[in-house]
Amino acid sequence: MSNETKAPGQIVSILLGIVVLVVVGIWLLAKLATSGFDVNAEVMSKEAVAARLKPVGESVASDAPPGMRTGEQVFKGICISCHGAGLAGSPKFGDAAAWGPRIAKGWDTLTQHALQGFNAMPAKGGAADLTDDELKRAVAYMGNAAGGKFTEPPVGGAEGGAAADPAVVGKKVYESVCVACHASGAAGAPKFGDKAAWAPRLKPGLDEVVKIATKGLNAMPPKGGFGGSDAEFRAAVEYLTNAAK
Ligand code: HEC
Ligand code: HEC
Repeated sequence: MSNETKAPGQIVSILLGIVVLVVVGIWLLAKLATSGFDVNAEVMSKEAVAARLKPVGESVASDAPPGMRTGEQVFKGICISCHGAGLAGSPKFGDAAAWGPRIAKGWDTLTQHALQGFNAMPAKGGAADLTDDELKRAVAYMGNAAGGKFTEPPVGGAEGGAAADPAVVGKKVYESVCVACHASGAAGAPKFGDKAAWAPRLKPGLDEVVKIATKGLNAMPPKGGFGGSDAEFRAAVEYLTNAAK
């Protein structure tokens, strides 16, 4: 008897339990959805991205003296974190379709946007220590990889001034590194300004000579022991070989 009277009560509690579960379930789903939205908002925040990028930019700074980084070095150290994969809507590296309309804006607009920031693109890619010329080199490097025809501002010295001249950069590198062997002809090095010693070496052309000297040759150490950029080393080879022409 008592069992029969309890049965409807149990059904009511089960039904109530289901209603409570459904309500709690909906509440949890709603909460999940909103917190998911919050997470996205944080990912898209320029400041958050820039803050996370900062150590990357700083570690790159030690690869080359400040102001001397090439476009490739800046790209690989900083810009790649977004532009490598096309993160946050950035035009992807090497993607001519994505870069085409941007390249069409022209050099001045592109560099201005990269310097000052543009929507989700942080100013200087979040690396405040980049010089304007380093940043412009990276813009040219990325633009050219996607079909652009920009000229990277040359590496070395005062921005846009006479010191940016490769001849000046080459002389500086020569006088600080190469002079140790090439001034006197130590260890069989072709002597500075010695036309007869240089003539047979210059026959294959500058590109080939730069390649050989970059790798090293017998007593000539790779890059002559110079630790700077390829562009600066090339300038030194040019300075050295021009003096023997
Ligand atoms: C935090 C991510 C991020 C980093 C790092 C970053 N960019 Fe960008 N960049 C973007 C985004 C996003 C856009 C697209 C912005 C838009 O069109 O709304 C963009 C666009 C650009 C553009 C095109 C601007 C235009 O007018 O269309 C250039 C040029 C550029 N970036 C250069 C650089 C350079 C150079 C670096 C490295 C020094 C760099 N970016 C680093 C996110 C980034
Ligand atoms: C430690 C001494 C030393 C230093 C420092 C040095 N060189 Fe050399 N370099 C040599 C020697 C030795 C050779 C000749 C190697 C041979 O032909 O066996 C040579 C050859 C060269 C050549 C000719 C390569 C060829 O194709 O025949 C170039 C170009 C050159 N050096 C450039 C440089 C530059 C630029 C620097 C400075 C960044 C530099 N060297 C620093 C020792 C040096």
